Amino acid sequence: MSAPVSNAHHRVFQSQPDEFTNASPRIHGTLPAELRGTVLRNGPGLLASGSDRLAFLDGHGYVAGVTFRDGTASCRGRHVRTPEFRAEQAAGRLLVRRVFTNLPSRWANLFKLPKGDSGNHDVYVFGGMILASSDQGHHALDAGTLETRGPERYNGIHAGKRILSPMPRVDPATGGIVAYVIDPGGPKPDKVTFFEADTRFQVTSRAAPHVLSSSPMLVHDLGFTPRYYVATQAAARLGLGAALWGKKTLVECFDWKKGFPAELIVVSRPDGARSFRVPIPNTTVAFHVINAHDDGAHLVVYVLAYAGKPGFELFAPGAFEAARPGDGNTPPPRILRLVVDPVAQRLVEHRVVGDVAGDLPEIRADRVGQPNRLVWLGAPAVGSQAPDVNAFPWFGAIVGVNLESGAVARWDAGPTTHVSQAAFAPRPGGTEEDDGWLLVWAEEGTAGLCEVLVFDAKALAAGPIARVELGVHLPAASHITWASGLELQRGA
Ligand SMILES: [Fe+2]
Repeated sequence: MSAPVSNAHHRVFQSQPDEFTNASPRIHGTLPAELRGTVLRNGPGLLASGSDRLAFLDGHGYVAGVTFRDGTASCRGRHVRTPEFRAEQAAGRLLVRRVFTNLPSRWANLFKLPKGDSGNHDVYVFGGMILASSDQGHHALDAGTLETRGPERYNGIHAGKRILSPMPRVDPATGGIVAYVIDPGGPKPDKVTFFEADTRFQVTSRAAPHVLSSSPMLVHDLGFTPRYYVATQAAARLGLGAALWGKKTLVECFDWKKGFPAELIVVSRPDGARSFRVPIPNTTVAFHVINAHDDGAHLVVYVLAYAGKPGFELFAPGAFEAARPGDGNTPPPRILRLVVDPVAQRLVEHRVVGDVAGDLPEIRADRVGQPNRLVWLGAPAVGSQAPDVNAFPWFGAIVGVNLESGAVARWDAGPTTHVSQAAFAPRPGGTEEDDGWLLVWAEEGTAGLCEVLVFDAKALAAGPIARVELGVHLPAASHITWASGLELQRGA
């Protein structure tokens, strides 16, 4: 008797305890000779500390990369060795409370807000290092071997209980990086401070703090233009008393009542002398910012917006194995175009772009902060049998959306295959937004076969032109990135 379809999907939540290298993975099709660099993924790798299981979004980070050169490929994967990873693997148990996972002993969570660092959310390349990042910290990895070198604190701006933005972005205009820190206020409002740093990780500018209206976990991504920084804030309030009481996980202590608006935070760049927030209509959560640009006196921001609470419940240990198609209720994420009048501090336009659901946006890196036309998203597969089709670990399709016309191109991996975010690799010398390749990590749910797919970005719907078989299983990725010219060490 064959396994239920949902069990095929839940394989994307299974741990990979081992590290790997593969100098000559099996390649199907022909890799473009001009494709030179490395596609990196970060995401949960080990979903337990000893016998204590972790919720999917708390899993210990695992960075893997596939390096392309002269029509060949090689790959490797390593755990992100955070202090928590080292201590908990040595102890054989969970030692620090996480956002989605409580310590097993009820009273061990009392008065302890989660601070565990899993280094599992994003991966970016800056200052000659690969960095694995989450809200709690960024960890520098060797750019050849992926071995963890240690925390990167941006010359001390990330200190104490501060949150560091999990998804900083390099500004192609300056070559520097844009990020923020959040100072938790406890019972008082938190403060967000945007900053920029150079490739030596020295802070080069720091904006005046902006006072937030809610708790830090639900500010997630950022964008910028030459004149402004932006971030989004979810429509939720943390019940601090319940969180401190420790009976529920932190994520269960959020109040998602209607009436709280999701907000767009706007801060003038670089000094923060002016800042304000505007409500995002019909939106409960906007985790990811696609891009932002100045348009005359206005500010244009594209975000991915959910009109209700995401279904985090199915990410809990035990829940995803038991989940069946239709159990989840995450609303479909939509592309929202927001036009802000910064003088009047109000929205002058908001509309949904394209008739498509999806998240995990990717744009051409040299368009960040400037007008752009194309975005690629992970999306629910047509006919998906996943328990929660709109939640990213179960995405099964890649879509490309024209932000001007709303036109959509799509490729479906099939009803039981997980696909990651797409990463865009530009063709050397090309300048058009889609002149290059899309790289996607895919995991076939039944066989646990992990591959990296290569698409011609101009012909997404035609399917992959090549596939690299890694020879290992990897759980669903969180974010991925392309690093032009970066070569990981080949072989052990
Ligand atoms: Fe993210």
